[in-house]
Amino acid sequence: MTPCRTLRSIAAFALLALLAGTPAHALDNGLARTPPMGWNSWNAFHCNVSAKLVEATADAMVASGMKAAGYTYVNIDDCWLLKQRGPHGELVPDPAKFPQGIKAVADYVHSKGLKLGIYESAGATTCAGYPGSLGHEKQDARQFASWGVDYLKYDNCGDRDGETYEQRYTAMRDALLATGRPIVYSLCEWGRKSPWRWAPSVGNLWRTTQDITPRWHTDQPDNQYPQGILDILDQQAALSHASHPGAWNDPDMLEVGNGYLSDNENRAHFSLWALLNAPLIAGNDLRHMSDAVRSILTNREVIAVDQDWGGRQGYRVHRNGNADVWAKPMSDGSVAVILLNRGRGPLHIATTAAAIGLKHAASYTVRNLWQHRSHMSRGVIAADVPTHAVAMFRVWPGKHTVL
Ligand code: GLA
Repeated sequence: MTPCRTLRSIAAFALLALLAGTPAHALDNGLARTPPMGWNSWNAFHCNVSAKLVEATADAMVASGMKAAGYTYVNIDDCWLLKQRGPHGELVPDPAKFPQGIKAVADYVHSKGLKLGIYESAGATTCAGYPGSLGHEKQDARQFASWGVDYLKYDNCGDRDGETYEQRYTAMRDALLATGRPIVYSLCEWGRKSPWRWAPSVGNLWRTTQDITPRWHTDQPDNQYPQGILDILDQQAALSHASHPGAWNDPDMLEVGNGYLSDNENRAHFSLWALLNAPLIAGNDLRHMSDAVRSILTNREVIAVDQDWGGRQGYRVHRNGNADVWAKPMSDGSVAVILLNRGRGPLHIATTAAAIGLKHAASYTVRNLWQHRSHMSRGVIAADVPTHAVAMFRVWPGKHTVL
C-alpha cells in the first residue's frame, strides 16, 4: 500500500471507530449537572398521593428553607392514575386524588419556583398495578410534557419477555427527548442489569439497589427487599467510577425523618448519600418534620459536598471492622471525609490527609461539617464517633477560611 492509501485507510478506520463508539442517541438533555434535589411521595405516603399533599409539600419546601438550600423537584410516585387508560389510550389521573388533573398541580408547583416530577413504569403495569408505559412511550411522554412535568421516575414492574432492559428504557428516553421539554430521566430498575454499565447514556440517574427502608441494617443479602442504609451503602463501594455530571448512581431516596431512625442515624444517612453524589430526594413528610430533621436536610455544608460541580463520587478508603473511612475529592482541591461507626458502642476512628488523597502540606484546615467549626491539624483526622453515627469533615491543605 502506498503511504497515501495507508493514511486514507487509517482515516477511514478512525472515522468508523468513532462512529461505532458513539452511541446512536446518547442522552444529551443537559440536565442534572449536579445530583437532583427534591422530594418524592413514596417513602412516607406510598399510594396516598393527592394534589392536596403535593401542593402542601411544595409550600413546606419553601417555608422550611429547603428550597433555599437547593431542593427543587416535587415528585409524585406510584398510584396517581386510574387503573384503565382513557378512550384514546391516554393515562387518566385519578379524579378523587387529582380533581383538576396533573397540569393544575404542575402550575401550582411552578408558581412556587419549584418543578414537578411524575412516575411511570417501563413494563405493562406499575408496581402498584396501574397501567405501565410499555408500548405507549411516545403518547405518555407527550402527555407528561403537555402537563408541564419536569422529571420522570421510570420503574421496572410489569416486565414482559421480548424487550431487553436497555430497549425498554431507551424507548422512553427517546420519547422524552422527542417532546422537546427538558425532563430529568430517572431509571428505576433496582440495579438488576448493572445499569452503571449502560444507563449513563440513557438516563440522568439510575437506581443501584432494591428499595430502601428506614433501618440502619437489615442483614438482607444484596438486592433483596428490604435494604437498610448500610446494606445499600456497601453496594455503592464498587460503583464510584460510573457517575459523572448528568449521570448519577442512585442509592434510592432518603429516609431521613422516617421510621425510628435516630438523629445520629439520620445525620449519617444524609452525610453518606451526599458523599456518594446521590440524588438528595427527601422521602419524609415535609409538612410535619421536627427541627432536628429539618436542620439535617438543610445542612448547606453537607449539601455542598453532594452538589460540588466536579461531580466526583466518593469512595471507601478503608474498612476495619465497624469503622469505615469514606472520602470524596472536591473540585477546589479539598477532600470531604466521613468516619463511620457502623456498630454498637462508641469508636475512635482516625485517618490521615495522605490516606484520603490530599497533597502534602505542613498543616491542614479540618472543618467539621456538622459542628460548623474548624481546627488545624498536622495531618491526622480523627474523632470519637458514637454508635450508628458519622463524623464528617472537609479538609484543605494549609490555612483555609470558611465563609
Ligand atoms: C418500586 C420502586 C419504589 C416505588 C414503588 C412504587 O418498588 O422501587 O421506589 O416507586 O415501586 O410502587
